[in-house]
Amino acid sequence: MAPFPPPPVNTIDWSNVGFRVREVNGHVESHYSVQTGKWSPPTFVADPYMRIHGMAPALNYGQQAYEGLKAFRLPGDDKIAIFRPDRNAARLQHSAAFISIPPVPTDLFLEAVKAAVALNAEFVPPHATGAAMYIRPQIYGSSAQLGLSPPDEYTFCVFVLPTGVYHGSHPVKALIMDDFDRAAPNGTGSAKVGGNYAPVLRWSDKARNEGYGITLHLDSRRHEEVDEFSTSGFIGALVDGEDVTLVVPDSKAVIDSITSVSIQDLGRSFGWKVEKRPIKYSELPNFTEVMAAGTAAALVPIRSITRHITDATSSQSLAASAEAKAHPRVVFQDGQETVTYIAEGVEDPGALCSKLLAKLQGIQLGKLADEFGWRFEV
Ligand code: COI
Repeated sequence: MAPFPPPPVNTIDWSNVGFRVREVNGHVESHYSVQTGKWSPPTFVADPYMRIHGMAPALNYGQQAYEGLKAFRLPGDDKIAIFRPDRNAARLQHSAAFISIPPVPTDLFLEAVKAAVALNAEFVPPHATGAAMYIRPQIYGSSAQLGLSPPDEYTFCVFVLPTGVYHGSHPVKALIMDDFDRAAPNGTGSAKVGGNYAPVLRWSDKARNEGYGITLHLDSRRHEEVDEFSTSGFIGALVDGEDVTLVVPDSKAVIDSITSVSIQDLGRSFGWKVEKRPIKYSELPNFTEVMAAGTAAALVPIRSITRHITDATSSQSLAASAEAKAHPRVVFQDGQETVTYIAEGVEDPGALCSKLLAKLQGIQLGKLADEFGWRFEV
């Protein structure tokens, strides 16, 4: 038997993987039927296409949810580890409840994810190239159903592909979206469902055209508190002398980012404090660094956050607060206000972001001891 894992394929330029879909050997599928009340054992399908009825609620009513996690080759390239898949299993179960899909048991989730990685192992990038294998589990209502009630059949599948980091590794400018609410106050904001992502597309496109790499969303009810970035979670770092505090939003409209939770643990391991609490928009100038944390994004240093000030937003403007108005990080220009954390021309992350990222990647890549038990070997 050939030794496992096989070496990485030589048909991909591993120094320039990017963030796009690449074909691999195939994916893994499991099916649930209401008759058996069970998910079937996962099977490998050597095809990127899936067979689905055109009247499936996944296609018509958005009855679907997904996950994102990563696998890495460890030093020597002879082992592969998946980062915290147990947390993704739990988060998919959380999402499933919002869209009336039977939960995928944790054991089945882990088995399917491991199988999808193992059966495509030659597409796991070489150690420490900056790329990883991105794993995309999905669940959806797959049998025909016209009425607005749960169907009889569901599919759970796991796709994998090699990717670099989304947003790259240089500081990124963020734009606040006030014309669009990402998630209703009592809605599905904490579920990783497509319905939280598709409506953002036109806004992130608009932001990109204005020169912003990422959008930031405030609470939908009042637009006064920070929720999350379109692709990732918000982390602000407060520095007071030697003391560092990482602040993350306490909002029921945000996705429980596994990268953010891991970063918080790493912060605690450095002796830093962590606060999970509502973050007022007017607090943004107080942060020394802001980061976006997500599986695809890893940890993105945020260069600046800009908000357009209109009649609708003027009462919340930083100009309305004497303290924020006078803050040296804040610039008012052409009807917009910008809080800058990393000056134009500086391409490195801030010191706190660099320290957190080095430890996160050290653990993911097996360069550092797995002190938290986060690596699951394939
Ligand atoms: C992830 O980070 O895994 C996500 O699902 C975000 C997506 C926009 C790429």
